[in-house]
Amino acid sequence: MPVSFNLVEDLDAALKAAALAAGLDDAAAFVPEVRTADPRHGDFQANGVLGYAKARKLNPRTTAEKLLAALPASVRELCDVAIAGPGFINFALKPTALLAWLEAHDSVEHLRAGAAAAHAGQTWVVDYSSPNTAKQMHVGHLRSAVIGEAICRMLEFTGARVIRDNHLGDWGTQFGKLIYGYKRWADPKALATEPIEELERLYKLGNDATPDGSPELDEARRELVKLQAGDPENVALWQKFSDVSLAAFAEIYDRLGIKFDHHLGESFYRDKVDRIYRELTDAGLAETSEGALVVFHPEHPRFKTQPFLMRKADGASNYASTDLATALYRAEHFRADGIVVVTDFRQADHFEQLFLTVKKWFAVKGYRLPELHHVTFGAVTGEDGKALKTRSGDVIKLKALLDEAVERSYAIVSEKSPELPEAGRREISRVVGVGAIQYADLSQNRSSNYVFSWDKMLALDGNTAPYLLYAVARIHSIFRKAGVSPGDSAKAKVATPPETPAEIALARKLVKFPDAIRLAMETLRPHFLSLYLFELAGDYSTFNTADKVLVDDPVVRARRLLLCARALLVLETGLHLLGLRTLQRL
Ligand code: ARG
Repeated sequence: MPVSFNLVEDLDAALKAAALAAGLDDAAAFVPEVRTADPRHGDFQANGVLGYAKARKLNPRTTAEKLLAALPASVRELCDVAIAGPGFINFALKPTALLAWLEAHDSVEHLRAGAAAAHAGQTWVVDYSSPNTAKQMHVGHLRSAVIGEAICRMLEFTGARVIRDNHLGDWGTQFGKLIYGYKRWADPKALATEPIEELERLYKLGNDATPDGSPELDEARRELVKLQAGDPENVALWQKFSDVSLAAFAEIYDRLGIKFDHHLGESFYRDKVDRIYRELTDAGLAETSEGALVVFHPEHPRFKTQPFLMRKADGASNYASTDLATALYRAEHFRADGIVVVTDFRQADHFEQLFLTVKKWFAVKGYRLPELHHVTFGAVTGEDGKALKTRSGDVIKLKALLDEAVERSYAIVSEKSPELPEAGRREISRVVGVGAIQYADLSQNRSSNYVFSWDKMLALDGNTAPYLLYAVARIHSIFRKAGVSPGDSAKAKVATPPETPAEIALARKLVKFPDAIRLAMETLRPHFLSLYLFELAGDYSTFNTADKVLVDDPVVRARRLLLCARALLVLETGLHLLGLRTLQRL
């Protein structure tokens, strides 16, 4: 019996066919709405009958009965079907269907092939991390990097070609003051050892030395004008600022397993804004207000009076102008079907205005509009609820944060597995430490503020990276004991359908992987995948306690090894999608 990757699709298609076959009024408009169900009610539930029946003043239960009567036989082969409550349809998979799915999805390639339909043939640009140059990356850019990378990987898994774009904040008035400070006080030694810190110091000196109305400020402005006019010396300095910043950022990205395809920062768009001013003005969207060029959105409660400022009164471009040019470039040059920008929630208004403007502008010009998503996240706070700072009140250096995670993991690993050689423990703590930071972020709904707690993220129990990484390593150790590879067990077709309650519970959880991916993807919220993996690890652990895997009976052993192999495959695939590395031994 052939089964789809996402069984929801099979059931959805079957119910639509049943609606036609049963001759329901307006059957084409019926949306089954099949979703993963509360496990007490079965595996999947369709609740679309209710809305459909209500809109047509039909009795939902009678409608559901008609649908069931017309269900194709193939569905009855897959699952037990029942009507519940006012007209829900519940589906409980049969063990043979569980086995069919498990056997069909025996490798990451097969999982990917199943998932790829969602975004096949599409190109998505993901703009994430995107820090400002000549400044330390802060914790917000780390969140953006972690969440953005998980979204990139899930998009790729679901078939998209992903373009990873680091949209650096590398242009703006701050460079006049920085150049001013640099030319007077740069310390070559500090630039060689701690470049970003030195640039921050020079900017601060430059800023302090150029108060409003002072001749020094005029001098800093002249430096900026020279930079904008292409003066070779200032351009070279600016380039140097970008280069050292990128080199420092690269260290962090490297440790997180992130590789950008492009670093098309704000500066890249500086010669592309004139076209934007022209097109938006010609389209009747932009108007001059107090010397500035602005876009009002009369239909919007706030933006009808609070316009989108897209060119400053002094004629200079700003964040809005470069972001409008960025949207156009991504649509025209990359032919993006979707654009995702990941920043903290404080930029919500900016992106709402940007997207509203882009939609209207593209419609006037007849440009193809990509799907536009602003993925926001909350603030990171310490356990005291205050902004995350060092004890002395400074910004936390991300490098130091990652180092501390690794050090703390090293202590835990050394305590748990003192028998492992030193180098092995070091390698493990790199994976666990960085994974703990990534996972702590990805395991919660990104919209909430996130409380940074070493104890919580490094706990061996609970929804943490160490817990999941241990689950993976434990399954590997079973295969080591069995003397077979998980890959071979995964391909074996000798297994019988799951039988014991723990086997069945684990198998039922495994077949929900596609739906977890779907949910995480539709909402661009990786925590749905994290939660799924955590629950899967729990079902695996229950199974492992209840049912011995390495028994003598070859049939039982093969069946359980298949479940182990599949749990391993899904856990590893899921963790890799979140951007974590996994290990065979901990
Ligand atoms: N550089 C900005 C910041 O540090 C984030 C940029 C996000 N991307 C964009 N296209 N605006 O807050």
